[in-house]
Amino acid sequence: MAFEDDLAAAQERIEAGFDRLFAAHPHTDLHAAMRYAVSGGKRLRGYLVLEGARLHGVPDALNAALAIEAVHAYSLVHDDLPAMDDDDTRRGQPTVHRKWDDATAILAGDALQSLAFELCLAPGCHPDAEVRGDLAFTLAQASGAQGMVLGQALDIAAETSNKPLDLEAITRLQAAKTGALITWAGEAGARLARADPVPLRTYANALGLAFQIADDLLDVEGDAAEMGKAARKDEAANKATFVSLLGVDGAKRRASDLVDTACAALSGFGEDAEGLKQAARFAIARRT
Ligand code: IPE
Ligand code: IPE
Ligand code: MG
Ligand code: MG
Ligand code: MG
Repeated sequence: MAFEDDLAAAQERIEAGFDRLFAAHPHTDLHAAMRYAVSGGKRLRGYLVLEGARLHGVPDALNAALAIEAVHAYSLVHDDLPAMDDDDTRRGQPTVHRKWDDATAILAGDALQSLAFELCLAPGCHPDAEVRGDLAFTLAQASGAQGMVLGQALDIAAETSNKPLDLEAITRLQAAKTGALITWAGEAGARLARADPVPLRTYANALGLAFQIADDLLDVEGDAAEMGKAARKDEAANKATFVSLLGVDGAKRRASDLVDTACAALSGFGEDAEGLKQAARFAIARRT
């Protein structure tokens, strides 16, 4: 099956999973905002979980896929707040704080984060409590002060610094901000199978960086209407990106090299890893 069909199938499974999950919740602004925040999106992280699990013969990885999409959605809701990137549009819709208010956006993000850990630790995630604990432990590391939140803090700090970051510092920033959650998604299938996570980790580390380079390139070259979010904001905000350091062509070359590195890490899986290889190529060829 073509990658686009696989991705569409993953999107459907994830959407249906959130439908089932939220059907049981009361109808408050908080719950409406949470459901709204997890709607849409490319679901690349969820796809990586489901495809990595399939590669390892794990039949059901939906809870882990919903968990990573919930953490990712929380990170976006908070990223868009006026105190951070101050964005009005996300996934083609008003951002949560524009549709409701800042307090609802903060609380919806908080509760989506809790929901992610609930999903990892729920018995339906995996029959073995040790595996569930491992998923929750590693998701905490990937999302918190050593992972995504650290990256966001470095991103915000760089905006007001008058010394541009060097390649090593930008790589560290982006690997935390975007890479950590993508790496967790890439590894989750191996963790669910109690298999060695290193090959998928190597793949996803490179993919995570390539993915953020593509996001930074889209900010420069992309179409806001097509992307469903604002463009041409990073330079004005003095963001430290690979594009600000390497220029557009240099950043494109770096992203392409990283995709080669990601694909090479999958050689041990043979043809069965074709979906993940195509996902890596998609990460830098995408227009949204
Ligand atoms: C956007 O992520 C934020 C970054 C980490 C670059 P995506 O481009 O995956 O956003 P959605 O989930 O498809 O909306
Ligand atoms: C956001 O990076 C990364 C996280 C939310 C962790 P950006 O700020 O570049 O993402 P967009 O461009 O708003 O989607
Ligand atoms: Mg940001
Ligand atoms: Mg942003
Ligand atoms: Mg961006």
